[in-house]
Amino acid sequence: MRKDRKGVINQLPATFIYTVSSTFEGGQQWLANLPELITACEALWGLTVRPHFAGLSYNYVAPASMPDGTEIVLKLGVPREELTTEIEALRLYDGRAMCRLVDADAEQGILLLERLQPGHMLTAASDDEEATRIAAGVMRRLWRPLPEEHIFPSVSEWGDGLAKLRAEFGGTSGPFPARLVEMAESLFADLLASSAEPVLLHGDLHHYNILAAEREPWLAIDPKGVSGEPAYEVGALIRNPMPDIYGWSDLERVLARRFDILAELLELDRQRLVAWSVAQQVLSAWWEYEDLRNDDWRQTMTVAEILASAL
Ligand SMILES: Nc1ncnc2c1ncn2[C@@H]1O[C@H](COP(=O)(O)OP(=O)(O)O)[C@@H](O)[C@H]1O
Ligand SMILES: [Mg+2]
Repeated sequence: MRKDRKGVINQLPATFIYTVSSTFEGGQQWLANLPELITACEALWGLTVRPHFAGLSYNYVAPASMPDGTEIVLKLGVPREELTTEIEALRLYDGRAMCRLVDADAEQGILLLERLQPGHMLTAASDDEEATRIAAGVMRRLWRPLPEEHIFPSVSEWGDGLAKLRAEFGGTSGPFPARLVEMAESLFADLLASSAEPVLLHGDLHHYNILAAEREPWLAIDPKGVSGEPAYEVGALIRNPMPDIYGWSDLERVLARRFDILAELLELDRQRLVAWSVAQQVLSAWWEYEDLRNDDWRQTMTVAEILASAL
């Protein structure tokens, strides 16, 4: 192991260590092996890996350079289905409205990505309306036809998270507000039953996953890869940037304006966008609970409450 690698673990943000170890089985072991994995990547691809980006959440992501000097990004994560579908989605997007995939090893949880520069996030846009317009532009270009055979989960399978919530609390909604859980269940059922033709969706297209680039002014990163109707895609944008939006006193007005802009630019029914957003907000609160087992989901639920009042 190289000398300068020994400090990697000590330098990792505490939130990253917490997230990885509480979310993934084998997360702690993976963290312990991370310095070696980085060294192995350096040897395999001849990379020079630099200090990681700020704000790591579920994966270790760092800028790096190839032997010929090309700037790339090295993304390492606990090997899992989500990373495999990310790799497959990146292959299908093939650089359209998205960073390119340079190379990958799904089994080891390694992705080499085109580095987007300057790389600042959509949170840097001049105001929320501008950010929403930019996101809508990227979103439109990201919807791809699905190949006949593919490995992506459907948004219906994602919605099964609500059934897991029920199972967790013996059929009740536990600490979650019963009215909102019931609302999310019936919205999911109605929206799925009346969905348009499914396409390949990014699945997590929000302000932190849209970066300033050179090939195009803004490009997406970090696709989940999920099959669903286009209107589903707005949910992740609506609930972000987290946690900033929890402090916005005019959140209700901001969200209403976002729906106006998205409905117009995406040429989709506004009411349907609101309905999907409510359903996903509750699902997302459950995911937070499921992953982190702390109280973070409560803030997510306050936004669900605001969204539900717009229905
Ligand atoms: N292709 C890229 N070009 C430039 N920066 C990137 C790229 N991919 C990731 N990053 C940086 O790393 C951060 C985390 O990457 P991301 O893929 O979103 O990880 P996660 O799956 O953990 O959310 C991003 O917010 C961004 O700052
Ligand atoms: Mg991300």
